[in-house]
Amino acid sequence: NTGWTDAANFDDVPADDVIGLVVEGRDLALYNVDGSIYATDNICTHGHARLCEGFLEGHEIECPLHQGRFDVRNGASTCAPVTEAIRSYPVKIEGGRVFLSLG
Ligand code: FES
Repeated sequence: NTGWTDAANFDDVPADDVIGLVVEGRDLALYNVDGSIYATDNICTHGHARLCEGFLEGHEIECPLHQGRFDVRNGASTCAPVTEAIRSYPVKIEGGRVFLSLG
């Protein structure tokens, strides 16, 4: 699948916040940072915690379980105890909708 999947309304992702949603059976997190939308897997790479229940600070999401952090722009791990990057997905906004490339 190399196409774009219509995932959400742009307006459903609150400013400077994170939401969780399931798209095509995947548990994903969507972030709004200064009006730009980013998408990653929702389950932390360190343990079974959902990043949508964490704390978004700038471009970093802090996991609610052990406070590890990822850069939401590319999924890179930025703070222990997470060491493994989280998968991130290309995003485009069109007609007020958020499209993800889940390929
Ligand atoms: Fe996310 Fe441990 S489960 S930091």
